[in-house]
Amino acid sequence: MKSYIVGNWKMNFSVGESSVYLHKLLQKTRAFRDIEVIVAPSFVALQPLSLQVDRKKIRLAAQSANPHDFGAYTGEVSYTQLRGIVDYGIIGHSERRQLFHESDKDIRASVAAALRNQITPILCIGETETEHTFGETHDVLRDQLLGGLSEVSAEDISKVIIAYEPIWAISTTTDSRIASPDEIGEIAQFIRRTLVDAYGESTAEAIPLLYGGSVNPTNAGAYLTVPGINGLLIGGASLIGDQFIDIIETAKKVKD
Ligand code: PGA
Repeated sequence: MKSYIVGNWKMNFSVGESSVYLHKLLQKTRAFRDIEVIVAPSFVALQPLSLQVDRKKIRLAAQSANPHDFGAYTGEVSYTQLRGIVDYGIIGHSERRQLFHESDKDIRASVAAALRNQITPILCIGETETEHTFGETHDVLRDQLLGGLSEVSAEDISKVIIAYEPIWAISTTTDSRIASPDEIGEIAQFIRRTLVDAYGESTAEAIPLLYGGSVNPTNAGAYLTVPGINGLLIGGASLIGDQFIDIIETAKKVKD
């Protein structure tokens, strides 16, 4: 299976800055057969960057979108409008769930809308610190995972990517709250078992599972060698060119 290195730029960079940064990334990375490098800029930058990007090296993702195709939804952008501009869509990121109150229903509809528009969904799941402390992690993850995928046909399940991002480990500044590779390994096994139970072994084994939460050039190698982890979803470190490139190079070393 390929490895996926995804940079989530969140609400950062102007259109001009996004273009300059993409230019730098394109210069410093090469096309890999076994690694898919994906960046998720803001909506305003997606269209110009889609004309600039070399898809053999880097693919574009939306950070979110509206599941309706068209209509009276002021301020929204749909997967239908993004078709041909992006290849991937991040769906259900914890910031969307928490700050913008995206429900499981919205997320399920977004996964279906992305697939309907030939956009690969990257479905994010993850528990809060409280849920983690009270031992509810497995229940929360099972609900988010199977809930998010419940409108996906058996045939389309293999087109989905899952990203596990424990909310308590996102954007941390002290090492003490960073998730350990062992913890991630246990959760990766649980997610894989849940997928096997729902969709059968061969389908489940082919679904890429990414880890995200305070990934940086120092810890990327350790997360990438966790059994069952097929890539990384990176926030903060993806905004710093040298760090993002360093992580891509680490992924290549791990692959080789
Ligand atoms: P982080 O963000 O790498 O800054 O923790 C990850 C994410 O929110 O996707």
